[in-house]
Amino acid sequence: MTSKIIGTGSYVPVQVVTNDDLAKIVDTNDEWITGRTGIRERRVVMEEGTSHMAVEAARRALDNAGVKPEELDLILLGTASPDHCFPSGACEVQGALEAVNACAFDISAACSGFLFALNTMQAFIQAGIYRTGLVIGADCLSKLVDWKDRGTCVLFGDGAGAAVVRAEDKGMTHTVMRSDGAKWQVLSCISRTNGNFLNHQTPEPGYISMDGQEVFKFAVKKVPECIQQVILESNLSMDDIKYFVLHQANYRIIESVAKRLKQPMDKFPMNMDHYGNTSAASVPILLDEMNRTGRLKTGDRIVLSGFGGGLTWGATLLEW
Ligand code: UT7
Repeated sequence: MTSKIIGTGSYVPVQVVTNDDLAKIVDTNDEWITGRTGIRERRVVMEEGTSHMAVEAARRALDNAGVKPEELDLILLGTASPDHCFPSGACEVQGALEAVNACAFDISAACSGFLFALNTMQAFIQAGIYRTGLVIGADCLSKLVDWKDRGTCVLFGDGAGAAVVRAEDKGMTHTVMRSDGAKWQVLSCISRTNGNFLNHQTPEPGYISMDGQEVFKFAVKKVPECIQQVILESNLSMDDIKYFVLHQANYRIIESVAKRLKQPMDKFPMNMDHYGNTSAASVPILLDEMNRTGRLKTGDRIVLSGFGGGLTWGATLLEW
């Protein structure tokens, strides 16, 4: 028994922020951002938060799957930007959906959040513990970036994507999840602290800080490695894979991965030009676009792969 994605959904805020808009607030320009990243515009929240986006994506995924909220056994939300320290965003989603029979919790793996949540769901289903699950990747990094730091504020966008997963004979076959905590400082967001009555600390703003080149080098090495691992373990070859659906951080990272895997670029769908890097949401948003536009056919073998803060990275091989 394995688990299969039977429905997808996504949500992005309506507000579009273009590269030209950002050039008005930091010293940057469209040519630099597009040329270095492939990003032309992104969506940014006005009022809504991570949970709101997650709920909307989840409703669309349930509708697409034809599954009722009360059928859900487990809800996993991959996010690095929950609206509250606690309760988990997943519990908020459960409440909004009235998924009364589910257990819900968050998974913190930054941009790998959806992949880690999906692989965790697969483990629960494969073990026979649960049958029907909802996996969400949602992030609202616009609330965590320093809008004066041109090195990071041009990269990210807000959004959410979701997948309904069910126990079936065919579906996810191989998974890899890895992390390297020794490099946690390469990409981090130190949370705001009020201190306590003994140490008299004053609250500090916590912004995303990133060594972009280190993340780039890590991604182009580790992503091909974990993709090769799931393919090797499945006794398939690269040519058996229809699409590689990678975290949408930078088109140059994806080009480099394609080159290392010796695979054509048309196997690597991309949408970061419209949404920027939506962190844990990027893989499920892209998957939902592909599903709804009919690009995914029953029996297609696809590999999903995410990477990000932690450092974390992983891959999942599945049959659609
Ligand atoms: O989800 C995972 C999250 N992160 C990533 O995936 C990030 C991976 N890394 C990257 O995508 C790239 O490293 C970046 C896009 C972040 C940066 O590209 P780069 O080619 O590594 O540029 P750089 O950091 O080496 O900076 C080159 C120059 C610098 O100026 P000098 O020192 O050469 O004069 C920067 O100050 O570009 C400057 N720069 C900018 N210029 C215009 C940095 N940000 C900007 C900007 N606009 N927004």
